[in-house]
Amino acid sequence: MNVLGIETSCDECSAAVVRDGREILSNVVATQIELHKPYAGVVPELASRLHTEWIAQVVQSALQKAELTSADVDAVAVTNRPGLLGSLLVGLNFAKGYAATLDVPFITIDHIRAHLFASQVEKPLEYPYLGLLVSGGHTVICRVDGYDQIEVLGTTIDDAIGEAFDKVAKHYDLGYPGGVVIDRLSKNGNPQAFLFPGSALNKEGHPYDISYSGLKTAVINQLDKFWDGESEKSPENIAASFQRTAIGMLMRRVRLALEDTGLKRISAGGGVAANSLLRSELSALEKSGYEVSFPSLKLCTDNGAMIAALAYSYLHDGYRSDFSESASARVSAFKKSYL
Ligand code: KG4
Ligand code: ZN
Repeated sequence: MNVLGIETSCDECSAAVVRDGREILSNVVATQIELHKPYAGVVPELASRLHTEWIAQVVQSALQKAELTSADVDAVAVTNRPGLLGSLLVGLNFAKGYAATLDVPFITIDHIRAHLFASQVEKPLEYPYLGLLVSGGHTVICRVDGYDQIEVLGTTIDDAIGEAFDKVAKHYDLGYPGGVVIDRLSKNGNPQAFLFPGSALNKEGHPYDISYSGLKTAVINQLDKFWDGESEKSPENIAASFQRTAIGMLMRRVRLALEDTGLKRISAGGGVAANSLLRSELSALEKSGYEVSFPSLKLCTDNGAMIAALAYSYLHDGYRSDFSESASARVSAFKKSYL
């Protein structure tokens, strides 16, 4: 089954064709990064306008790269939650029209679940496993018992991890997008130049919850307080020290969750899963006997292939969406509960 997956929830305009949930025939990502760069952040109105201009061409190019025509598309899947409402609506309405014209099944997909599923395309793990979703909008540690069966164990109580990377980069004018720049600068920095505090584990029944606002404030407003007194106060040293602390806080909770749940497998997804320090820390868990899976870099950040791949599982199990379905900017389910 060839599933066309469309993703326009933020600033990437993407379409992909995935066969039977596993074989990525094409994955076209038209990034708007250069167009949002002057503003050091995504401008929602600009994002939706660009999606409107680009979407038809991006879908066409995904079909061409897959060496298919629209007649070969067996189903259309699209992200409809969460994200920027105007951007979501562009993809959603295009997908509805496309599916209606072709008279093929149509299904809407949750962007967060798709990030959590992305690693399974390339390196599937047996269920259950610990899921780690780290992106610009979310930080979630969860127990995954099936593609649609996710129990949230911990979340951020304020900023998402990617948001913290982006805000620190913006404050110090390091470049855009922040996460990528901090990762790159860190390679030439001293991670001990500033000993920023990581948030303490919350012992009141929420041990896997995390907070990034304190770290963000320390890095932005209290640099001198945590300085080692001799290292240069350079962008590289700030970046490396921040990154060490941000990833360290996350890994502490991941290790605790692995111990407490007894899970032996772990999968990560989302834009921050592209971070080189996080990837090496996760890979290091393999030495302790854990099976680890994270997506290749292109499947970490927003892309249509993860949408099409997850959609295949739903379609295979008989799920379909109605054309009356709309988009929503937020999902309340990413609090403590079964998703
Ligand atoms: O998953 P994604 O593309 O969009 C959301 O759903 O949010 O994630 C984007 C986030 C941004 O905050 C970006 O700075 C971060 O992922 N990011 C990184 C890296 N690459 C992207 N953060 C740290 N290290 C990276 N290498
Ligand atoms: Zn995303």
